[in-house]
Amino acid sequence: MLLGSGELGKEVIIALQRLGVEVIAVDRYENAPGHQVAHRAHVINMTDGAALTALIEKEKPDLIVPEIEAIATETLVKLEEAGKAHVIPTARAAWLTMNREGIRRLAGETLSLATSPYRFADSLEELKAAIQQIGYPCVIKPVMSSSGKGQSKIDGPDEIEAAWNYAAAGGRVDAGRVIVEGFIDFDYEITLLTVRSLNENGETITSFCDPIGHVQVKGDYVESWQPHPMPNGALEKSRDIARKVTENLGGLGLFGVELFVKGDMVWFSEVSPRPHDTGMVTMVSQVQSEFELHAKAILGLPVNTALKTPGASAVIYGQHDAKAIAFDGVADALRIPGADIRLFGKPESFQRRRMGVALASGDTVETARIRAKQAAAKVKPVIPQ
Ligand SMILES: Nc1ncnc2c1ncn2[C@@H]1O[C@H](COP(=O)(O)OP(=O)(O)OP(=O)(O)O)[C@@H](O)[C@H]1O
Ligand SMILES: [Mg+2]
Repeated sequence: MLLGSGELGKEVIIALQRLGVEVIAVDRYENAPGHQVAHRAHVINMTDGAALTALIEKEKPDLIVPEIEAIATETLVKLEEAGKAHVIPTARAAWLTMNREGIRRLAGETLSLATSPYRFADSLEELKAAIQQIGYPCVIKPVMSSSGKGQSKIDGPDEIEAAWNYAAAGGRVDAGRVIVEGFIDFDYEITLLTVRSLNENGETITSFCDPIGHVQVKGDYVESWQPHPMPNGALEKSRDIARKVTENLGGLGLFGVELFVKGDMVWFSEVSPRPHDTGMVTMVSQVQSEFELHAKAILGLPVNTALKTPGASAVIYGQHDAKAIAFDGVADALRIPGADIRLFGKPESFQRRRMGVALASGDTVETARIRAKQAAAKVKPVIPQ
């Protein structure tokens, strides 16, 4: 049972279907991308613990695979403790990572990993006091949010109140709590896809994909590529951090470990215990995509994290607020050498909603990036007449 059936869940479902697995897709709205390719589809509010429990008790899935953060994860923890659910990778991992405080305290305090300096605040007054400790520039984020929602970088005290109000409006569940992080002036940021799978003796092993570089605009990914070149020292530190975090979270599956890098210094930022949006590039660049790796790992099957070719991805946004949009220029996009596209089939478009992605391979990452961006630019969302 997939909890969340967006574009990432859809690809996990396809990978599972190819292995003959019966898949139940759940989302909060009808005709979500994953609903369109699953055996059965359900629409529920996944943050409603009672509704989630009722559905799990009705369907009795062998595995529960969270695809998003906004789930009643405490309910999953209880069901797992009662032996009524097997959550991927673990219910605790889903619970800890849905809240920035849980994962940040684990990384920074329990595991002593390098992170940006941080404080938490429950009111505007507390935020002002926290920022006095952290200094400027700093980044303010709701503790529960994703895709950059409610997040702002500020440079001085006159911006605090607007950042507080923006965070309160953009947060998911617990509107009142924020994290303030010192701004890290990194050279680049990467996603290190890390897989926990079983070897032939039934022991859990950790493997790493090549680092994925990406560009974020307002906390949302617009472009990614693989491999991102890194000095050996920074790569080893990145793998060490990723190994420690994923070992603590436990279970089987693929994780997206987000890291900031400057020279040989590496900071842990956050981790998704599931495929990562920047990892869509692996559909073109790896022998097995991050979705196939996740599917195989959670089933206890062997995985292959090898790179196939340098590759890149570029996001296609809706550009319109409308239902059932169409796309012009798809053929032109596909005429670009090495290019391919995925259109997610979302039933409703918003201007900044991710509706598709262009993928491209190339002899070098630079070529692949140019091709992916060109392909994305050729695809024009239109409102059918
Ligand atoms: N402390 C920081 N210093 C510098 N840049 C930061 C910091 N925190 C966040 N950013 C930038 O903002 C981006 C989004 O931040 P973060 O990953 O915490 O938000 P998110 O809402 O969880 O995003 P997503 O769900 O897309 O991963 C980061 O990838 C990075 O580019
Ligand atoms: Mg992030």
